[in-house]
Amino acid sequence: MPTTCEPSTGDRIAVVVGSTRPGRICPGIAAWIRDVAQQGSPLRHELLDLADVGLPLLDEPLMAALQRYEHQHTRRWSATVSSYDGFVFVFPQYNWGYPAVLKNALDFLYHEWRAKPAAVASYGTRGGNKGIAQLRTVLQGLHMRPLQQHLELVITETDIDDNWQLKDIDTTLRPYRDQIRAVDKQIREALNAL
Ligand SMILES: Cc1cc2nc3c(=O)[nH]c(=O)nc-3n(C[C@H](O)[C@H](O)[C@H](O)COP(=O)(O)O)c2cc1C
Repeated sequence: MPTTCEPSTGDRIAVVVGSTRPGRICPGIAAWIRDVAQQGSPLRHELLDLADVGLPLLDEPLMAALQRYEHQHTRRWSATVSSYDGFVFVFPQYNWGYPAVLKNALDFLYHEWRAKPAAVASYGTRGGNKGIAQLRTVLQGLHMRPLQQHLELVITETDIDDNWQLKDIDTTLRPYRDQIRAVDKQIREALNAL
């Protein structure tokens, strides 16, 4: 697994860890994507783990578009999202959709997402294209700019050990290196087009 990141001073891209359940494999996958995307890129790719963000289920009385936030956790989340120029959402397909924790995190805000490039990377036994389709619709509703390039990472039972952890993440994800590089390139192009 690549462990080093090129130093860079460019725009900040959040690689969002979109599963928060105990025993999840998402942090390792997101870190692997982050490291490959970072290699040679002028962008700064940073992990943004929704487990660390720790939002409750949406508890704001007014809709996010009004930006009259009652809770400190919402203001903190607003500042975090505002500080990024683009996003790579990494998530497992859950029952043909994407995780509720990710939808909840998106719904807390509105303007903060607007016009920002958004890449999606799902994983599942068939890659997770149904979750991707649903998330892309929501990202369009938020007026983000979903990239054409997306990642569908196929993870089958042969990749997984008895504790449902990836046996060898490099072997499983290596075939997607070029696609990850293409995602980074498209994010840069989208940012340049702003
Ligand atoms: C609630 C739930 C629903 C799932 N639904 C699907 C599915 O629709 N398609 C699929 O390929 N895998 C599905 N799986 C298997 C997940 O791909 C696998 O558990 C994966 O490790 C989940 O990611 P995580 O460990 O980062 O949470 C599901 C798992 C869970 C927990």
